[in-house]
Amino acid sequence: MIYIDPSKQWFHLYCETFSYVLYNADGTLLNLYWGAPLAHTAEEAARCDLSYLLGSFPSGSSFELENRPFEVPAVGTGWFGDPAVRAVNEAGDDLTQLTFESAAIVPGKPALPGLPSVSAENEQAETLELTLRDALTGLQAVLSYSITAGTLERHMVLTNNDTAPLTLTHMASASAPVPFKTGTKGNSSGAVSFAGEGLDVIHLRGAWARERRPVRTPVGLSSYKVESQRGASGHEENPFIALAAPTATETSGEVWAMNLVYSGSFAAEAQVKDAPFAYLSIGLNPMTHRWQLAPGESFVTPEAVLIYSAEGLGGMSHLYHKLYRNYLGHSPWRFRERPVLINNWEATYFNLSEEKILAIAGEAKKLGVELMVMDDGWFGNRFDDHRALGDWVENREKLPNGLKGLAEKVNALGMMFGLWFEPEMISPDSDLYRAHPDWCLHVNGRRRTEGRNQLILDVSRKDVQDFMIAMMKRVLSSANIQYVKWDMNRNMTEAFSSVLPAAQKMETQHRYMLGLYRVLQEVTDAFPEVLFESCSGGGGRFDAGMLYYMPQTWTSDDTDAVERLKIQYGTSYVYPASAMGAHISIVPNHQVGRVTPMKTRGEVALGGNFGLELDPAQLSEEDKKEATALIARAKTVRSLTANGRFDRLISPFVSNYCAWQFSDDDRVLLLFAQVLAQPNYIPQRVYLTGLDPAALYEDEDGRLYSGAALMQAGLPMEFARGDYQSRTILLTKRKD
Ligand code: DGJ
Repeated sequence: MIYIDPSKQWFHLYCETFSYVLYNADGTLLNLYWGAPLAHTAEEAARCDLSYLLGSFPSGSSFELENRPFEVPAVGTGWFGDPAVRAVNEAGDDLTQLTFESAAIVPGKPALPGLPSVSAENEQAETLELTLRDALTGLQAVLSYSITAGTLERHMVLTNNDTAPLTLTHMASASAPVPFKTGTKGNSSGAVSFAGEGLDVIHLRGAWARERRPVRTPVGLSSYKVESQRGASGHEENPFIALAAPTATETSGEVWAMNLVYSGSFAAEAQVKDAPFAYLSIGLNPMTHRWQLAPGESFVTPEAVLIYSAEGLGGMSHLYHKLYRNYLGHSPWRFRERPVLINNWEATYFNLSEEKILAIAGEAKKLGVELMVMDDGWFGNRFDDHRALGDWVENREKLPNGLKGLAEKVNALGMMFGLWFEPEMISPDSDLYRAHPDWCLHVNGRRRTEGRNQLILDVSRKDVQDFMIAMMKRVLSSANIQYVKWDMNRNMTEAFSSVLPAAQKMETQHRYMLGLYRVLQEVTDAFPEVLFESCSGGGGRFDAGMLYYMPQTWTSDDTDAVERLKIQYGTSYVYPASAMGAHISIVPNHQVGRVTPMKTRGEVALGGNFGLELDPAQLSEEDKKEATALIARAKTVRSLTANGRFDRLISPFVSNYCAWQFSDDDRVLLLFAQVLAQPNYIPQRVYLTGLDPAALYEDEDGRLYSGAALMQAGLPMEFARGDYQSRTILLTKRKD
């Protein structure tokens, strides 16, 4: 809900989970509060007078604006940190003094042109638009705020209303102060840091094959930045940052979080100055993005999703999960049960053929698999990763009956057929490159740096986008392809478009993303029934931008069960299980060489969109039996894991164990795992959460437990002997 007071100075966004209060102080827009709800009705909001808070700001000095909680910290306002908006004008200075001009409430939640964004929760949705203007340069900023499912969406539209061009160097999607409630950290009364005081910063750090490991550290007295300059959200950091009370746990304590609905380079920061708050922001990375704003033109920032949770990190995750499951994207697959798939990558690598694919599909069908996905190597001269990206024509040596023939044969087995693409790439050794050597990102006179022996198409170019759209439409219409894995296997270097003029070269990375989003929109609109899964060397582009077009993502190239406990646990901070691909692969595992039991590999994979990444013919009879049972279980629980509430119970980062839980109104699925076996082990207990204490829950052996007992007394974690053991327990809530 949005409340504007009669004097039009106070703007109070509120719902059941938070309040966000802005104040127009003589033209300077201040953020006076972001935290637990202060109102639940318009009457309460009207009564909520926060004007006394203004007394906490110093005034009367020449720097009277310093350290005020600006909603849009800019240059020349009294803010001495990294700005949210910075425009260099024709006079050569970068002063950007945005003064409040007007406020309006617009019905609904308008989509962001050309960019992915969250959809409105219901017909009553409304958006607060606050207009600010720099009188001297004519720069106008319209800040947009909507509330969806307990979360706050924020973006900004910057328009040049003057006759001279402006160069935008900073255009954050969101920026807001988060209060230091304990200790004196960052406060002018004594800038001292005490352990356990101030705020902790939390982000998701990683690398290829070990993505999204939660890092939590005191924010300190300086600034803390996470970023990508890679032209993709990246393996290294995720476009997510949170500040939390040092005492916040999975279930309690305050957390303030920001996540960007964007798939390119980004920066997120917690800046600490001499004020009693830390400045949290997220948006395009000023290092890699610049925009020439011609007179009359507008720039739309990506959308940021802000969450305040009074229920710790678990509360934050519940809100992100619910939002992304229900209000992000248009694919009908968002609400459908996802098929159990088998992918041939680790079974054959590039050495695939129709015969091999059909053999894998035939065996997989017997285990209960529903979708056969043919990975890299089916096209052009693609016998290894040195060639052929761009030549998207089936290789008849490998596929004598073409894609159509193969798809028909897979369908005849009673399975769906899916296909791998890497449409944004071009191999120097390809017919496409020989025909269009200028179609890649490059700078004339400079080396064209290859990554995995490939270059990146200049997707900022319309002709390149048109080529990609036409190619995808041609291939997808040529056979019964019901699933697409959209891969992207390197990051950007020489990230410049040869067709942009010098003054606009720094726009390339963002124009690339806009171009990619256009391609994805057109292709997914043309094939709404196709299930799209995004991928980037595993989880190198696991973000809400991609999820808008493709409801699931290949979480990591690392399929080792022990590693996956960590990867899926970390990913769940922001992204729901319905977004994560999780597969059983062969042992010894191809990434780490570890040998884990089939049961553990499968039970960990139940925590996402279940699949296999192997040649079933290589499985022992015992493992085949186990795999069949696991696939049956995946089908039994997939509606629960996709739509249920997810809780992290025991972190694999701090213990030898890991436990997580899915629950809905009817069922609970508990996973617990032990990494290394221990002698003389006395079963630890795992404590369930969020259940109905008065209800009875029945396990698969007919044993009954009360919700209260499961939560308060816990369940003993008993394991079979040996390393890398897991168990899942499925409980059904008794309705009688
Ligand atoms: C990287 C992906 O993450 C893998 O699953 C596989 O599709 C390869 N690319 C193929 O080149």
